Amino acid sequence: MNTPPSILSALKKRLHLQPDHPLAITRQLIESRFPGYAYHNALFPIVTTHQNFDSLGFPPDHPGRSRTDTYYINSKTVLRTHTSAHQADTFRANATPGYLISADVYRRDAVDRSHYPVFHQMEGAMTWDRTTVPTNSTLAAQIWADVAKIPSHDLTVQDPNPTIDADRNPLQPEHAAAEVEAVAAHLKRSLEDVVVAIFSAARAATTAGGEAPADEPLQIRWVEAYFPFTSPSWELEVFWQGEWLEVLGCGVVRHSILANAGVPSRIGWAFGLGLERIAMLLFSIPDIRLFWSEDARFLSQFSASKPIARFARFSKFPACFKDMSFWLPAGVGGNSAGGQVGGFHENDVMELVREVAGDLAEDVRLVDEFTHPKTGRRSCCYRVNYRSLERTLTNEETNRLHEKLRGTLVERLGVELR
Ligand code: PHE
Repeated sequence: MNTPPSILSALKKRLHLQPDHPLAITRQLIESRFPGYAYHNALFPIVTTHQNFDSLGFPPDHPGRSRTDTYYINSKTVLRTHTSAHQADTFRANATPGYLISADVYRRDAVDRSHYPVFHQMEGAMTWDRTTVPTNSTLAAQIWADVAKIPSHDLTVQDPNPTIDADRNPLQPEHAAAEVEAVAAHLKRSLEDVVVAIFSAARAATTAGGEAPADEPLQIRWVEAYFPFTSPSWELEVFWQGEWLEVLGCGVVRHSILANAGVPSRIGWAFGLGLERIAMLLFSIPDIRLFWSEDARFLSQFSASKPIARFARFSKFPACFKDMSFWLPAGVGGNSAGGQVGGFHENDVMELVREVAGDLAEDVRLVDEFTHPKTGRRSCCYRVNYRSLERTLTNEETNRLHEKLRGTLVERLGVELR
């Protein structure tokens, strides 16, 4: 068990179901682009390691399984790290050819304005039955007929790679190239339609004192990717305010997943997207912590029955930076940048910051690292930015928090303060 009470208390929040919450509005906007699909929005967040990893083909040594990345309840049970944990069960139920699953997911991670240990994903999938094709047609032709039903758009799409590449993005042995071409086209057109809907809404969003609307033409691109449970696979990136943002991962579902789920005759696609990331673009929300705010100045700005409006900051409260330097316990060497050094992992520091400061910590960064030339001991310096989204913090308050954090690091990680 490495799941702190602060994380367990998030299980009951279900922000994606709270009426008028920006995550719920984002979910509904995407759902409206998938008519006829089944929507599953209340699946329980505690799953088995089989559901979260094994059923999807994650190898036994995959880093995602490690206790530094995933919250365990016991050795066989975790807080789901992605909505794909429900793929196999949903395929097994075989209730509708298409489905969407929206849910809270949990990952141990950095502390900054776009990462939070609890966030929300939407999974989507569509499959076709290869045995029920009329004799005068082919499955590929059936799927292309479905592609033609997706609304068209005039977006600039960069998609330079062939659908199938023997090395980088292989065809599965159970599939025919013509079927996969059709499935990939249905997948890409469906998701392009979602992006068009979201970004036109973001553009049209009224400004209630927020930033001026961006009016650069929307550009998107398909990039080859790898997931253990799809092949070929892609990521979709959107050019937004000067950078390429990764919006979702997707691909053609592995035959073994469908076969193990008792539906070996089906073929289709799946995608997974992060709802916070999309909601932040849609409403111009600058900090992921805001989604958890119960402040009426935040919540009252969103309404499912009104046009999308840009979020207006209540005010920008001052930041307060404080450093903490410490020696790692003796015997812990190596390079800690972004990860694991012997028994020390940066995510443990991140989690203690969350435990002590909660949402008052905006950002934590490693600013210096040093190995003593004689003793070989390693020292790290992390800079914590304390800032409330709702008020100005007093000096005494941040000092108290920071002292408590330093003490907790000594007690829980065995570091020696400098
Ligand atoms: N579950 C993947 C993630 O969290 C996203 C994904 C879903 C990719 C479905 C492919 C198909 O990154």
